[in-house]
Amino acid sequence: QRGAVLAGLGTYLPSYVLTNDMLAHVVDTSDEWIRTRTGIRQRHIAGDGERTGDLAVEAGGRALASAGVDTVQALVVATTTPDQTCPATAPQVAQRLGLGTIAAFDVSAACSGFLYALATTTSLIRSGLFDSVLLIGSDTFSTTLDPTDRSTRALIGDGAGAVVVRRGAPDEPGALLDFDLGSDGSKVDLLLVPAVTPTQRAEGRADNYFQMRGKPVFSNAVLRMTESVTRLLAEVGWEAGKVDHLVPHQANARILTEVANRLGIEPERTVVNIDQVGNTVAASIPLAMAHGVQQRRIRPGDRVVLTGFGAGLTWGTAALEW
Ligand code: ACO
Repeated sequence: QRGAVLAGLGTYLPSYVLTNDMLAHVVDTSDEWIRTRTGIRQRHIAGDGERTGDLAVEAGGRALASAGVDTVQALVVATTTPDQTCPATAPQVAQRLGLGTIAAFDVSAACSGFLYALATTTSLIRSGLFDSVLLIGSDTFSTTLDPTDRSTRALIGDGAGAVVVRRGAPDEPGALLDFDLGSDGSKVDLLLVPAVTPTQRAEGRADNYFQMRGKPVFSNAVLRMTESVTRLLAEVGWEAGKVDHLVPHQANARILTEVANRLGIEPERTVVNIDQVGNTVAASIPLAMAHGVQQRRIRPGDRVVLTGFGAGLTWGTAALEW
């Protein structure tokens, strides 16, 4: 049977680090408030002129190197902050990575973007259309924020994380087993960036900035991720107790704890790197994966569940064997 496997992992974080104390100098907040309410200590912020495509090229190059390949047949960029409204970010990233004239397109599903793109990529490989795809989650979501809004500025960071997905047998290391995806467009107003272009955002009108209703986002995130993981575990026949690692979208440490509790997955089996990077939108899950692997927590043969939730509303879950 034709399957898809994860074959390489690469990450990139902008060099500029904004700590909670630094943020407390520009908006009315404190390190203590942010740490206790969100678990975040710092976030990386893209520099002037450093765009989503730039971050994607760095992470993508590292993923190719980690997979030991210099070419793939397609490139997918998951992002909600593309370099421009049209065209997609992916074709330029493909050129800059020296990948030539391969198929290249973006997937937009906010914080669930990486999982939506991973499901798409896996399907393209299983269908026989491609044998190898580079998938990059990259966002410079800090560019959408109201500089005076303490609640969103405390949460968001910029970054990119990438994987190479290639054709492989379902019992090979890295095998992607199954997915659960969903959306609820009736709750679009909970997380929304009304502006459609970087230029409109730069005009600085308050209604162009990212708007978030924190409390209902919190409760919907817990509910939807818990439901999605539960559905997928039933589908693949895994009990929660047999999951070695839960790798959730890093939105708020308290959300992650609540999801893990409801699922019956111990805190030690949940990968958390939100303290270092904040919420990096489409980059969040591959950055957390890389964190778990670098710390040697995620080991060959482990059962891994990735889950995410974001604007749309959208959510998604993937099961794989590392
Ligand atoms: N520093 C100090 N005070 C703050 C801060 C801050 N950084 N942020 C919010 N507050 C204030 C609020 O203004 C509010 O003050 P008020 O009562 O005077 O209006 C007070 O804290 C309490 O606010 P609550 O919303 O009750 O605080 P809560 O405990 O819910 O925490 C938070 C707020 C952290 C935003 C939480 O609701 C949350 O994490 N929600 C989920 C957010 C999320 O995951 N978003 C995804 C965004 S990314 C995407 O989808 C693209």
